[in-house]
This record gives sequence, structure tokens and C-alpha cells, in this order.
Amino acid sequence: MNKEAMLTDWKPDLYMRFNSERTQPSIDLIYRIAQVEPKSIIDIGCGPGNSTRVLVNRWPKSKIIGIDSSAAMIQKARQDYPNQEWVIADATSYEPEIKFDIVFSNAAIQWIPNHEALLMRFYSFLSDRGIVAIQIPQFWDMSLGQIINNIANKNRWRERTAGISSLFTIENRSFYYDILSKLFSSIEMWETQYMHILESHGAIIEMMRSTGLKPYLEKIDNDADKEVFEGAVLEEIKKAYPIQKNGKVILPFKRLFFIGYR
Ligand SMILES: C[S@@+](CC[C@H](N)C(=O)[O-])C[C@H]1O[C@@H](n2cnc3c(N)ncnc32)[C@H](O)[C@@H]1O
Repeated sequence: MNKEAMLTDWKPDLYMRFNSERTQPSIDLIYRIAQVEPKSIIDIGCGPGNSTRVLVNRWPKSKIIGIDSSAAMIQKARQDYPNQEWVIADATSYEPEIKFDIVFSNAAIQWIPNHEALLMRFYSFLSDRGIVAIQIPQFWDMSLGQIINNIANKNRWRERTAGISSLFTIENRSFYYDILSKLFSSIEMWETQYMHILESHGAIIEMMRSTGLKPYLEKIDNDADKEVFEGAVLEEIKKAYPIQKNGKVILPFKRLFFIGYR
């Protein structure tokens, strides 16, 4: 089942307020892929098309399809890039009509359960010389993820937020390596900790509202309580991330990347 089905739709404009922070990992992953000339590429969980756009920039002659289960995200992608091919589809049930030379997914599969089955599915989408390239935020390795989870587990919120942490599927590098090594002749894996320079502690909340905080806020039924929850997260964020001399805040953000070559 798509875990997303339990959530309300995404807010593309809110998501894209941090376009540069969100798109840099796609740039880093796409330009790390070997010198190849793919005929066809699929961007799974393409969101508003920001990651797809980077694929188009590197391989302008390829057939590139963006798929996403969110109607709002695909609508935004269609509006911004009307010449690209966009499909509203769930990655767990989508049946592509062609094989792909690259199956790409940036910051999306953490919303989808059962990564062994998912990676096998992605593998089945590949052509003979196909490449899979994936990036997954390491939310639970960050103070931010721990702060949100700890507050959600407090008495006041526990009942309403029960089970939310299991909406995220984030396995460790060893898990992914063991699957990839059965399927691919060559594998690259790395982690990057980005240092996002943000205007204030409030900007961390703003950035997370459309991703990591989203499922928690959706389970809290009234606006006053949402504010209290966010306020509690903000207090802890202030303790964890110091203000710099110029007033800005550094948010370290860890991401795991891997590329598999058939
Ligand atoms: C954080 S956004 C990533 C957007 C873009 N790839 C980027 O690099 O910024 C995650 C996207 O994954 C999509 N998504 C989540 N579960 C999905 C599923 N089962 N099938 C397809 N897309 C899914 C969401 O709708 C959302 O647009």
C-alpha cells in the first residue's frame, strides 16, 4: 500500500520555497552517473519536476518521464514544464510501457514501504544496460528527526501521532548494499551531509512543514494544537542548532546515495 494514501496531498509551492536545498542532491546524483547516453529515463516521485529538470539538462535528447502519486505535484510539474511527459501514478503499481536506461528517484522512496520489493520493481523497469540512481534523506540520523519524534511521543501528542514514524521507510546502507549486490555488476554508494544555511530557526520549521513535519501536523486536528506542536519543536531546534554571528542557522542534513549499473 502507498503510505501516502494516509496523508493529504502535497503543497508544491511550499515544497519549492527551498528549491535550491532540495534540488542540489539531484544535481550531485545525476552528475555522478557515468558518461552514458540514455535513450529513456524515469524520475520516480518527481514532485514538481525540479529533479526531472536536472535530468533534462544533462540528457536533453532522452525520453524522460516523471511520475508521482500526488496530483498537485504533477499539476505543478505540467504547468512549469509543459513539454515534458508527466504521469500521476503510484510507484508500487505503475506498469511502464517501455524499459528505461536510467531509473532515478530523489528524496521520494522514504515515503514508500518495503524497499526490497521496491528495488526489485525498479530493477524490472531497466533495460539490459540499465542504471538505478537513488537518494534517500537520513531523517532519523539527524537531531531534527529525533526532536520531532521525541515530541510526538510525549503524552500530549502520543495518541494522535501514533504510528507516524513508521510512515517513513529508511533502511541502512548495509540493507541497500545487500540488495544491490545481488542485482548489479557495479555499485557506488556515498553519504553527504549538506550544510543548509537558513535565515532563522523558524525557517527550519518552514522547510520541514512540507516534508518531515507534514504527517505529524496532519494528524493534529486543530490549528491551535498544530501551533503548540510546532512551538515545542522550535524550542528544541533552538537548543540543537546555534545561531551564527550573522544571525543565520546551519542545518546539517544527511543523505544516502547509491547508483547500480547492470
Ligand atoms: C520530497 S518529494 C521529492 C520531489 C523531487 N523528486 C525532488 O527531488 O525534490 C517526494 C515525492 O514523492 C512522491 N511519492 C511519495 N510516495 C509515492 C509513491 N508511492 N509513488 C509515486 N510517488 C510518490 C510524493 O508525492 C512527492 O511528490
